[in-house]
Amino acid sequence: MKFFVDTAEVNEIRELADIGLLDGVTTNPSLIAKSGRQFKEVIAEICSIVSGPVSAEVVSLDYAGMMREAAELKKIAKNVTIKVPLTIDGLKACKALTSEGTMVNVTLCFSANQALLAAKAGASFISPFVGRLDDIHLDGTELIAEIRQIYDNYAFDTEILAASLRTPLHVKQVALIGADVATMPPAVIKGLVKHPLTDKGIEQFMADWKKTGQSL
Ligand code: E4P
Repeated sequence: MKFFVDTAEVNEIRELADIGLLDGVTTNPSLIAKSGRQFKEVIAEICSIVSGPVSAEVVSLDYAGMMREAAELKKIAKNVTIKVPLTIDGLKACKALTSEGTMVNVTLCFSANQALLAAKAGASFISPFVGRLDDIHLDGTELIAEIRQIYDNYAFDTEILAASLRTPLHVKQVALIGADVATMPPAVIKGLVKHPLTDKGIEQFMADWKKTGQSL
C-alpha cells in the first residue's frame, strides 16, 4: 500500500519524506488556503521534496477552464498529478489528460458508480472520501470495498486512493480491503506507530539494560 500525505505544509512533508514513509502528496484548495501560500509556488516546493505523484487540483468547473489550468500546473514538475472533480466536465478533462499521458486524480467520489465512471475515463487515481461519508452516518469503508470489487471484476487499473482518512482505524480498514493508496494528514501517519505496549516495553528494556551497567 502506498502512503500519501494530505497536506500543503512543506515542513511536515519534508519530515515524513526524511523518514522514508512518503510515496506521494495530495492537496486540495482548502489545504492550499490553510497554508497561506501561493498555489504554484507551494506545489513546486512539494515536487522538489517528493518524487512520487503530487496532486494539484484545478479550480475551474468547466472543461476548457480545467484544461487551461491543467496545462499551467503540468509545467511545474513531471510528478504533478492533475486533480479534477467528479463531474461530467471533470471526467471529460480526465479522459483528455490521461490520453495524452498526464496522471489524473478524480476527487470527491462518494459512490461506486462515480468510481466506475472515473475508471472508464482512464483515471490514474480515484479518491473516495471515507471520513466525509462517516460524517453523514454512512459507512465510508464500505464504499472502498465496493470499488475494489468493481475494479477487480473488470481489471481496471485505476488506483483506489482512499481519502479523507481521519484515524488509524480507517487506515487499517482500507488496507484490509485492498485500497492501493491511503492519503492521510501527517498526524494520522504518525499515529500509526503508537502503541502503549511498545512504550511500556521500551521503558522496561531501558530500565533492565541500565541494571547491567554495560554500554554499547
Ligand atoms: C483528498 O485528496 C482530500 O484532500 C482529503 O483527504 C479530504 O479530507 P477531509 O475530508 O478530512 O477534508
